[in-house]
Amino acid sequence: MVKIRLWQNHGEQNGIKERRNFPVFSPGGQEEKTFGGSGEDQRQKNVREIMKELDSLVGLTGVKKLVREVHAFVEIQRRRQKEKLAAEPQVLHMVFKGNPGTGKTTVARIIGRLFKEAGVLPRGHLVEVERADLVGEYIGHTAQKTREQIKKALGGILFIDEAYSLARGGEKDFGREAIDALVKGMEDHKDNLILILAGYRQEMEWFMESNPGLRSRFPIHITFPDYTTPELLAIADLMLKKRQYHLTQGARDELRLILEESRSLHVHSGNARLVRNLIERAIRQQAVRLVRKSQVSREDLMTITREDILRAREYNPGT
Ligand SMILES: Nc1ncnc2c1ncn2[C@@H]1O[C@H](COP(=O)(O)OP(=O)(O)O)[C@@H](O)[C@H]1O
Ligand SMILES: [Mg+2]
Repeated sequence: MVKIRLWQNHGEQNGIKERRNFPVFSPGGQEEKTFGGSGEDQRQKNVREIMKELDSLVGLTGVKKLVREVHAFVEIQRRRQKEKLAAEPQVLHMVFKGNPGTGKTTVARIIGRLFKEAGVLPRGHLVEVERADLVGEYIGHTAQKTREQIKKALGGILFIDEAYSLARGGEKDFGREAIDALVKGMEDHKDNLILILAGYRQEMEWFMESNPGLRSRFPIHITFPDYTTPELLAIADLMLKKRQYHLTQGARDELRLILEESRSLHVHSGNARLVRNLIERAIRQQAVRLVRKSQVSREDLMTITREDILRAREYNPGT
């Protein structure tokens, strides 16, 4: 899905096996040393690549703008630190609000990589968890489970999906213990961990309001709107192009109908996950259709027809 091996790729191109041009992260991001002269150039190049990937996402205008803002802020703080200027304290924990399939995880991964380049996070990887990964079954179990996930995420982002569910169960629920352990982890690993809490907009707003202690700890809020049908079709085109397939006009019309119908049936339907599932099933249906034929052209191999989309849809009654 998302390419994470930029560094390695460049290293191999230059015939360098070791990471010799790498900026060396020092905890707290105070200083950055590079071996070899081109560390800064390489870093800028990586940032441009990641920004290109952000831009290639369909729609999300407001989200992209905010990500650029946050990135500009951390980048300039980094340069100010280098010049020994006073730097703003960087509280970069975030809340992502939006329905499933609106790009939250995708954008979180991109942010992790940007933060790595900006020296904010040494690794920039993403550990995605949900309630069941954090909450245990007996006293003490939850704190231990949560600490384990925090440990995995150190140097990167701990992304908690449906985070509001941690507060859903009332006073006695172990979800509270998880929240406490998360808050402690955030404090213990200030310079080494960023938390992103994600979930439905209304639930997340309720969650933040019912936990005033959390609100100030999560200053950055990003709302992910549902995609429009034309945006979902553009996402389908993008996904197919990456896989070297394309739709016939009939297939495209059929896909549009399915997406519109699904929008009228479900409130939370404007999402890219439905598109991905449909596309992946259509690709399998195309394979089934072609495998019986003795003569198959290059064009046939790349083309998804109306029939493939219809069969893909049959797999998924109710959407
Ligand atoms: N704006 C977009 N452009 C292209 N693909 C997208 C976009 N948003 C989401 N996707 C794709 O849709 C799928 C679901 O996105 P994801 O980030 O997992 O959503 P969420 O985390 O909000 O549930 C992924 O395969 C992702 O690559
Ligand atoms: Mg997700």
